[in-house]
Amino acid sequence: MPRVDGDAYSGGVTTALPFPRLRSGAPAAAGSTVESSSAQGQRALSDSYGRIATDLRVSLTDRCNLRCTYCMPAEGLDWMPHEEVLTDDEMVRLITIGVTRLGIRTVRLTGGEPLLRKNLEQLVADISTLEPKPVVALTTNGIGLATRAEGLAAAGLTRINVSLDTLDPDTFKKLTRRPRLDDVLAGVAAARAAGLAPVKINSVLMRGLNDHEAAGLLSWAMAERVHLRFIEQMPLDAQHAWQRTEMITAAEIRDRLHERFDLVEDPDDAVTRGSAPAELFRVVGTDYSVGIIAAVTKPFCGACDRVRLTADGQIRNCLFSRVESDLRAPLRGGANDDEIAERWVRAVAGKRAGHGIDDPSFLQPDRPMSAIGG
Ligand code: 5AD
Ligand code: SF4
Repeated sequence: MPRVDGDAYSGGVTTALPFPRLRSGAPAAAGSTVESSSAQGQRALSDSYGRIATDLRVSLTDRCNLRCTYCMPAEGLDWMPHEEVLTDDEMVRLITIGVTRLGIRTVRLTGGEPLLRKNLEQLVADISTLEPKPVVALTTNGIGLATRAEGLAAAGLTRINVSLDTLDPDTFKKLTRRPRLDDVLAGVAAARAAGLAPVKINSVLMRGLNDHEAAGLLSWAMAERVHLRFIEQMPLDAQHAWQRTEMITAAEIRDRLHERFDLVEDPDDAVTRGSAPAELFRVVGTDYSVGIIAAVTKPFCGACDRVRLTADGQIRNCLFSRVESDLRAPLRGGANDDEIAERWVRAVAGKRAGHGIDDPSFLQPDRPMSAIGG
């Protein structure tokens, strides 16, 4: 049974996590009880450290059509049973509560791979017609985006992040275990053509696999006019194989880029960064800036404005939480919007100061990245 901690309140809203979901893993554990509240109207999702969550990340599915080595094993995972996954109506109801009552201003749809979710375009349309209108963003691996980017843009999607770690077809196949580089490149081109802005590229470098490609990725991104951000590999893989010593650090990423480019800290970054996790570096002699997200070596938890909703209706106040708050049980049990909002407020109130990866007591969350959402 996973350790349950970080719960700053009582009331039975927090559940122990039923993961891991490796194919050989244990079956899911039980949910939690419903509680009621008379809270009304607008609330802020604030925590005891003064942070306010305004950026909601919604994992629409834990399924994926790639098998990135830093994310999941070759054979995939035991996907969530369909009945556990929120329906479109349930998703929209929770997101509506977040946007109209709890101050959520950005809704980022993630996975697994969100393009695998049926009716994604309709979900985007429903979310983008909420009042006040949120920014609607998508984080995708890009497979299938070539034929859907235009429809998504028409439905109201504004921003998109595409994961791309290599430009070499063989390395792509090794890293994702699928030969789909061309689909991803076509997806990026289609996103730009559809007017989605900005188009961001997320890259994770793996030692001995694609870490020699940092500068090549930057050249490509500059030519394509897409925003490249390197992300330090985090301990969120389903296999629990992450090792700090193997991780390519932000400092190493800079060194690799320096082999071909002169970089300086972006002069505007300090002013405009806010809660954005990427530190920006200007390529000298150009107006292009590359981002480096030092999630491990330089955590930005103090400025975090995120809260996550999993495909099975659990609120996670941090990527690295070891506890979750169940919104699905009250949702399906007939709770009203006030009750659900109250439970959500409490879930965020208990957010810890930081992810604690460097603490000797750090334990990787049981739920892998593919079931949390990026
Ligand atoms: N560490 C860092 N980034 C990761 N991603 C997936 N798993 C990890 C990890 N363990 C990235 C994906 C995607 C985004 C959602 O997070 O490549 O771009
Ligand atoms: Fe799929 Fe993203 Fe995990 Fe890769 S990192 S296997 S694209 S969920």
